[in-house]
Amino acid sequence: MEPRLTLAGLDDPRLSEAVGALERGRIVMFPSLPFALQRGEEAFLTTEVFSGKSKNVSFDPHTGKTGGTKLEGENLARMAAMIARYSAFAQDVIGRVAPGYVPHLDLRRTSFRPGPVDTRVMSKRKDDRRLHVDAFPSNPNQGRRILRVFTNVHPAGLERVWEIANDDFETYAAKMAKGLKPRPDSGWRRALGLTKGRRTAYDSLMLQLHDNAKLDDAWQAAEPKMRLGFPPGATWLVYTDGVLHAALSGQHAFEQTFYLPLEGMVEASRAPVRALERLTGQPLL
Ligand code: SIN
Ligand code: FE
Repeated sequence: MEPRLTLAGLDDPRLSEAVGALERGRIVMFPSLPFALQRGEEAFLTTEVFSGKSKNVSFDPHTGKTGGTKLEGENLARMAAMIARYSAFAQDVIGRVAPGYVPHLDLRRTSFRPGPVDTRVMSKRKDDRRLHVDAFPSNPNQGRRILRVFTNVHPAGLERVWEIANDDFETYAAKMAKGLKPRPDSGWRRALGLTKGRRTAYDSLMLQLHDNAKLDDAWQAAEPKMRLGFPPGATWLVYTDGVLHAALSGQHAFEQTFYLPLEGMVEASRAPVRALERLTGQPLL
């Protein structure tokens, strides 16, 4: 199986190779790049912060607005300050790993994940323990890449465990190609407020690839996988739209999402949209 993990350090002279590794579908892990909690912030490492059924706390680094939590007042402000600090940390990491990306990057939501990965009850389609590429029904990304930074902050040593499929994106998409139907919409979903932008042919294919993977028990079972453990203090970067991944277990993590337009990539031909255009023989944006 092709190795899918690249280990790195911020002072590593070969750090500039990390961008190529990411674009080729690898996970770049910094085994020792911790996000330090400040005094008293360990108190937020509990599912008690959630409102209702949320599985993470989401934070908009542009507005400072927090969602998915029942905390209020002073406690909310302190938790929001912690998540804002993580967002700044993740931006700093990207700035050092991929300075060429910075002028192109679109900073999206930050998420705080104090809940356990392995006990959430949900439908197959929502179950991130099944291999999938990220694609979101209400957030068409119109060809832009989804680049994510994660950090495990578990206070008692618990790894966050993922599985990565052996197939790279193009191989997987080629296997599924027969069943794929480009179904762009004319913009009606956006007009009704169902999506945050128009669902392009690309977005419709990515949703099908996401759902087909998660719903296909036989493929999930048969696909060779590699298990990866991310220890506390580790930070890892990955294009989650281009790597088939599953989160199996773990608790207490942060995540920052960035969108990157194709023109920001070093090798845009490696983007999922270009792979799908090669497969379908038609423009998808
Ligand atoms: C996912 O993107 O599938 C979940 C990753 C995680 O929470 O570790
Ligand atoms: Fe995912």
